[in-house]
Amino acid sequence: MTQKVKKRIATLRAEIGRHNYLYYVEAAPLISDRDYDALYRKLEELEADFPAFVAPHSPTQRVGGEPLSVFESVQHAIPMMSLSNTYNTEKLIEFDKRIKKLLNETPYSYVLEPKIDGVAISLRYEKGNLIRGSTRGDGKTGDDITENLKTIRTIPMTLKSRKVPDILEVRGEVFMAKQGFATLNQERQKVGQEPFANPRNAAAGSLKQLDSRMVSGRPLAAIFYAVGEVQGLDFETHVDLLNTLHLMGFAVSVKTWRGATIEEILSALDDLKRLQHDFSFEIDGGVIKINERRTYETLGATAKSPRWAVAFKYEPERAETLLKDITIQVGRTGVLTPVAELEPVALAGTTVSRATLHNAGEIERKDIRIGDLVRIQKAGEIIPVVVEVKISARPKDTHPFQRPTSCPICTGPVTQKEDEVALRCENLQCPAQLKSWLRHFAMRGAMDIDGLGIKLIVQLVDQGLVSSPADLYQLEQATIMNLERMGDQSAENLIDGIEASKQRELWRLIFALGIRHVGARMAQILEEHFSHIDELIEAKTEELEQIPEIGPTLALSIQAYFQHLKNLEIVRVLKKNGVNVTRLTPMGSTSGKLTGKSFVLTGTLPGLTRDEATAKIRQQGGKVVASVSKKTDYVISGDQPGSKFEQAKKLGIATLDEAEFSTLIGNDSG
Ligand code: IVH
Repeated sequence: MTQKVKKRIATLRAEIGRHNYLYYVEAAPLISDRDYDALYRKLEELEADFPAFVAPHSPTQRVGGEPLSVFESVQHAIPMMSLSNTYNTEKLIEFDKRIKKLLNETPYSYVLEPKIDGVAISLRYEKGNLIRGSTRGDGKTGDDITENLKTIRTIPMTLKSRKVPDILEVRGEVFMAKQGFATLNQERQKVGQEPFANPRNAAAGSLKQLDSRMVSGRPLAAIFYAVGEVQGLDFETHVDLLNTLHLMGFAVSVKTWRGATIEEILSALDDLKRLQHDFSFEIDGGVIKINERRTYETLGATAKSPRWAVAFKYEPERAETLLKDITIQVGRTGVLTPVAELEPVALAGTTVSRATLHNAGEIERKDIRIGDLVRIQKAGEIIPVVVEVKISARPKDTHPFQRPTSCPICTGPVTQKEDEVALRCENLQCPAQLKSWLRHFAMRGAMDIDGLGIKLIVQLVDQGLVSSPADLYQLEQATIMNLERMGDQSAENLIDGIEASKQRELWRLIFALGIRHVGARMAQILEEHFSHIDELIEAKTEELEQIPEIGPTLALSIQAYFQHLKNLEIVRVLKKNGVNVTRLTPMGSTSGKLTGKSFVLTGTLPGLTRDEATAKIRQQGGKVVASVSKKTDYVISGDQPGSKFEQAKKLGIATLDEAEFSTLIGNDSG
């Protein structure tokens, strides 16, 4: 029995690992998210029933664990070296001459790879399982950041190979893609946090978090390009190494060039430069490596870097332009964001006329003034930022930036919280805040209100027709018809759109409420644990923190939101107007006799497989969850029940055997 379970667990892990790889590394999933979730849940259930088989490299162990107080140190058996840099082609030709001389008559060739602008890491696999991940540190000693690295889905927990090496240390770069970086910074800005200067800082800052739950929400990925200690495996060439790593489940650069001579590499570098902006992540140059690994010993290394590789670095693209004005935007949570209004200028492929100034402190630090000539650059190649002021060109009559003391939109008071860098408008009725909230509330990923665009929102707010999202549900067609550009038909469409949004899933509503730090994914996690909005409202921080993905910051934020009377009032009015506030049962069944009931399965049922039992529960509107909590209604236990059975007894939850379960679902009625 246990042998069978052990095998099943191993198979599930391998299967999940494979789909994870196809989804995250190859971006070519074979199965639906739903089927993936089912596999994952199955594994979770088995591991909960047979805790002895839980292993640190299981896919279920990617997120979790308590925050660390410090990182342990890791000695790198083989040092993690850096590369010598060059900025021009003459230096590359000199590099080639040196190699030729050192290698005498030995033939050699080159490989060119993109140089990823991220953070170097090393992963150690023993018998195919990930056992440790670390930073480079000073090259000899780094930090043990295993828990943080496990949250990165492009990092395999186990090697995908029939013949796994006894020991394999792989080295690569953790980075944040440009788009993910832009979104993360926007979100940070919205909640008053200091944005990251560039994707590399964002990746480095994320990996330094002591609480791995904070890392799991960050859009990180990793690409591998070298090895450290290896036992039980050999590579003849660098190309061979990259191919093998790829076969084992690691992401490697999708683009590499081979060159028989340095001239071929120079032309490959031109190709790379042309493609630079097409990569989804930042490339700050190319790395040129000798392909034949047997030459590495002969060539050796200097104190810091190997002689068989060199980095060719790009200078960052910058432009100079006039700062015409500094305007202030007010976001959904009241955060005031200063924006640089610029004389339009060409930069890295686009014309730039605005740049973010992040916050007042940043403007003061850089002493940025209206009328200045400023140098701009793109952070993560997307967001233009003001890097510095050209002080020598400053006109005589400029003035230091004045912090706004009142909201530019509603003239409400402006404050700065102790732990924040942002200034905030304190007026919860501020039309600017309300407009961005309504836009968030109605957007496709949230309540998905068809027909409610920004132009309409502006009118509704400016005319005092709507002062919270709950008011939307009290709008009348006649009122809407009187708005600009609204006819009979469009007013009716909007009313229909609002009506339809009453039936959205609970998580959409949770997301739409705009609780700080609660994105769509987090809202879904919350829905899994709370079947009614009132349960969430009443949840204590300790209860919230029981959920693996939720740390103290998030728990406090959720509690703080519902302590606000205005927010409670909004929920009350939403409810009153018929907006769905409960978890909808899957498969569209809302009338089954098990509606709203939550089940946990443990042990083996003699006459039913788990899938069959799950299907029966779902058919009647019930839900099957992985672990027992106070909210569980029934625990169904078969032969050899696991720890869940004990847990149920402890919490006084009804336990049913198969016969009792059959009676409950009324097998007679089919
Ligand atoms: S090879 C011993 N390949 O650049 C050689 N490094 O400036 C190990 N980097 O520390 C490095 N992309 O963090 C190599 N394709 C690539 C790279 C790369 C980025 C980073 C790496 C290294 C730094 C050196």
